[in-house]
Formats: sequence, C-alpha cells, structure tokens
Amino acid sequence: MPPTDLPLRSVIVGTGSAAPERVLTNADLEKMVNTSDEWIVTRTGIRERRIAAPTEATSDLAVAAARPALAMAGIDPKDVELIVVATATPDMLFPATACVVQAKLGAARAAAFDILAACSGYLYALKVVDGLLRTGVYRNALVIGAETLSKVLDFTDRNTCVIFGDGAGASVLVPKAGDRGVLSTHVYADGTGGELIQIPAGGSRQPASAESVARRAHYIKMRGNETYKIAVRRMEEVVLECLEANRVRPGDIDVVVPHQANLRIIEAVVSRLGVSMEKVVLTIEKYGNTSAACIPMALDIAVRRGRVKSGDLVLMVAFGGGLTWGAGLIRW
Ligand code: UT7
Repeated sequence: MPPTDLPLRSVIVGTGSAAPERVLTNADLEKMVNTSDEWIVTRTGIRERRIAAPTEATSDLAVAAARPALAMAGIDPKDVELIVVATATPDMLFPATACVVQAKLGAARAAAFDILAACSGYLYALKVVDGLLRTGVYRNALVIGAETLSKVLDFTDRNTCVIFGDGAGASVLVPKAGDRGVLSTHVYADGTGGELIQIPAGGSRQPASAESVARRAHYIKMRGNETYKIAVRRMEEVVLECLEANRVRPGDIDVVVPHQANLRIIEAVVSRLGVSMEKVVLTIEKYGNTSAACIPMALDIAVRRGRVKSGDLVLMVAFGGGLTWGAGLIRW
C-alpha cells in the first residue's frame, strides 16, 4: 500500500528535558520539616528532587527542554508552527508561558498557548495537538510540560513539600502517514474533586492580598491520601479504555511512561494491569513529582537511554489536580 493510503498520525520526532541544577535531598528536608528519609522513600519512592534558582522560571526550563527536542527533530525554531505548554506554574498569570517560550526560542511563526490540566497536562496537550496535526492544521508542534512547583510549595507543610520538584520535558511532533505515532489519547476530568489539590488564592476567587499571603493560600494544598485512592482507580480505568480502543492487551505493551506522583501508585496501577515493573520508566527517585513535566521528562530519558525502540508500544498514563486524568498509546 503506498504511504499516502495510510492514516496520518502524529509522530514524536524529537524529545528533550531539563531540570534545575540544585538538588534537594530527603536529608535536606529532614532539617526543614518533621519528616524522615525513611518515610519519604517508603511512602513515595522519592530520594531527591530539583529546585529552581530564585531567578529561574518555568519558561527557562521549558526552553532548555525544547532546544534539544528541536535539535533531535532537525527543526529550526523559526519553522515551528505551534507551541503548547502544559503547566500549573506559569511564569505569571498572563501572558501564557507558551508565548514567553515562543519569544525566547525565536519561533516567530508559531501560535502559542498554555494548557492547565495539572499533572495530566502533557496528555491533554497531546490530545489537542494530535487532533490539529492529523487534520492538517499545522505541520509541526512543540509540546512542553514544564513546572517550577518549588515556587508554590509550602516548605513548612510536610504533606506537600516532600513530594514535588521542578523540571521540564518537550516533544516535537509532526504528522506522517503510517502506522507509527500516537494511536489514541483519552482524557477526563471531575471538577467536583477540585478541592483535593489546589492553590486556592491568586486568581479571581481569592485575589492576592496581604491577608491571602498571611494565610499561606498561594501554596499547594493537597489531601494526599484521598487523591491517592482515586488516582489508582481512575488510572487503571483509563488505561483499560485506551488498550481496548486499540485492541491491545496489557502483555503487548513494551514501555510504560507513567506520571510520577508516587511509586506506590505506579506499582498499584501496573500490578492491577498485570504489567511487569521492568517495563516502567521511573524518574521519581531523582526528580520527584514534577507534575505536567513528569511524562515528557521520563519519555526523553527513556529515548536517550535507548529504552524505547522503533515499533515499541508505549503507554502513558497520568492523574492530577482538576481532577484530571488520561492515558495515551504510541507506536514508536
Ligand atoms: O500528582 C498528582 C496528584 N497527587 C497524587 O497523586 C499524590 C497522591 N498521594 C500520595 O502520594 C500520598 O497520599 C502521600 C505521599 C501524599 C502521603 O502518603 P500516605 O500513605 O497517603 O500518607 P497519609 O497522608 O495517610 O499519612 C500517614 C501518616 C500520617 O500520620 P498519622 O496520622 O498516621 O500519625 C501523616 O501525618 O504519615 C504522616 N505524614 C508524614 N510523616 C512524615 C504525612 N506526610 C509526612 C511526611 N513525613 N512528609
């Protein structure tokens, strides 16, 4: 069959990732809040995370991840047509961080916008971009998940400050006729659970004021244990839907690139599916939970280590604030 008879699919042709230099270890956190390395490692799998410098913002990490991704793809920033940044920690309320990235890259032709779906942001972005590429709206797109969660972490709250970290991951996608590429993406939301993870203030509901700052209302609040239980259920559910949509069995999956919120969540989901942990790309130990950046960072690390080979079936799954969750399947 000539290639033109095959469906157009969005193919990832470049990946990149970046993280700040500063490492914050569990031992460092022991000096800041009432916690222990033992508790953090056994409850989350995290040993250390990266923390942005005071002068470093989300767009800086996003650009540092985008450059190697574009280089791998062989695409000049001037030729980029669309930039989508998934982030819950934008440089500022507006303009969009994607516009800041566009300017820094010199991607003068690119349309640029942000997506806010917290830890599921990369999969939401992939869903939108996949639709735009397969229908011929754009000829290439740069999808970035980037966060500086340390800027909104309360380092007196042990429920949150031990879990999150900073980083960015980027993917460059182009439409190509064939059977490789994004096979499907499935994303969901349940706004009734929005209070489980949120930054209450700084928007139009609770504008920034001296009072909101005094209440520490600009920091992440999370009801971790409740979130945990819903996450496991929803992630399993959406993966099964994704596999069924593609007539794929769990045993057919070659590589799993999950959101890295908690090692126990990842283990619970893959064991429910009957997938071996050997197939799972883990970055949580070194980077913690970098929210929207987790999946594209892990994907880049896996690609550069040769863990993802041509023809592999790559499963991605995430859950986060919103509540939001999603899964995606790629034939690499
Ligand atoms: O990124 C996407 C969205 N987020 C998630 O998916 C996160 C999901 N949640 C989690 O990962 C876990 O719920 C946490 C890691 C946040 C917490 O683990 P847990 O096993 O659910 O612990 P817990 O909240 O039920 O707390 C158990 C105990 C409590 O003490 P008591 O009441 O049993 O005496 C907590 O006060 O652990 C205590 N605790 C800590 N102890 C030491 C909570 N945080 C800490 C800490 N160090 N950092």
